[in-house]
Amino acid sequence: MASGRFPTTRLRRLRQNPAVRALVRETRLSPANLVLPLFVRAGKKLRHEISSMPGQYQLSPDEIAREARSAMELGLGGILLFGIPEKKDATGSASYDRSGIVQEAIAAIKEAAPEMLVITDVCFCEYTEHGQCGVLSERGGRVDVDNDATLKLLAKQAVSHAQAGADIVAPSGMMDGMVSAIRAGLDEAGHGHVPILSYAAKYASSFYGPFREAAESAPKLGDRRGYQMDPAAGAGQAMREIELDLAEGADMIMVKPALPYLDIIRDARERFPGVPLAAYNVSGEYSMVKAAAERGWLDEKSVVLESLTAIQRAGATIILTYWAKDVAGWLQA
Ligand code: PBG
Repeated sequence: MASGRFPTTRLRRLRQNPAVRALVRETRLSPANLVLPLFVRAGKKLRHEISSMPGQYQLSPDEIAREARSAMELGLGGILLFGIPEKKDATGSASYDRSGIVQEAIAAIKEAAPEMLVITDVCFCEYTEHGQCGVLSERGGRVDVDNDATLKLLAKQAVSHAQAGADIVAPSGMMDGMVSAIRAGLDEAGHGHVPILSYAAKYASSFYGPFREAAESAPKLGDRRGYQMDPAAGAGQAMREIELDLAEGADMIMVKPALPYLDIIRDARERFPGVPLAAYNVSGEYSMVKAAAERGWLDEKSVVLESLTAIQRAGATIILTYWAKDVAGWLQA
């Protein structure tokens, strides 16, 4: 310990003005690491605002293409597509239809903004009439998502996205073995170059509430706790999920939601250094701030920049956020 006059160490020295604060800063947000989720549905010139997510829209393919262009001009790292099909059925067949809505949107985007990185969410909840993330089957009088039957269809959906031009596929259904099934499907179909971003540690979270309005994907019966992770499970379970996905060939991994799961992000960063680690700042995280900001209770811009900085500081190298364009604009200003 230092003797003599107190205090020898004054941490405020490095906080005294903007220049020194900037010099010692370790976390900097960049548009290149941000991914903007977008919702696409059939139509023309359609911009239907999602009431629980002010500023976010269901867009038709032509409008998505415009969004993709502006995302590209802002230097965003990518866009993540969710499709809202016109028809739902028991197996979610619209999801692997050659002329499905996501497939159509990719074509429109690639024409308007060829350089834009397109990631597709690979799941069934938007496409099945029951709203579960896979096909159902009955076992011992209990209806449940049939894991292995779903794997085949997941591979089919991912291949269809890759054929349409998706740059990265992102399975979000938390089925066991989904990464290896998709990897095998892609490789067989000649898409060995398409990376998989796995929603590896995805929790059964109430923060997805607004998204389910946006994507029209709420389960009609029951919930998703039979496949998404229990929020109170030990962090070790999340590490096992990630480990398995990497062993199955995942190129990138994701933790979701982001803010309430910073501990999981940190653990994943420490345990799997060198693996691109995405965190999904989900719909509920967005809507909470929007609602508070509308009331004048929070300052949106500073709260968002602080939150995303925290997510990155915890260890995320990629952040999926509905604020991606806003942030890019704020960082330029
Ligand atoms: C499933 C999926 C969900 C989200 C992304 N992919 C919803 C769910 O699992 O119920 C949620 C994203 C958000 O809340 O912003 N296809």
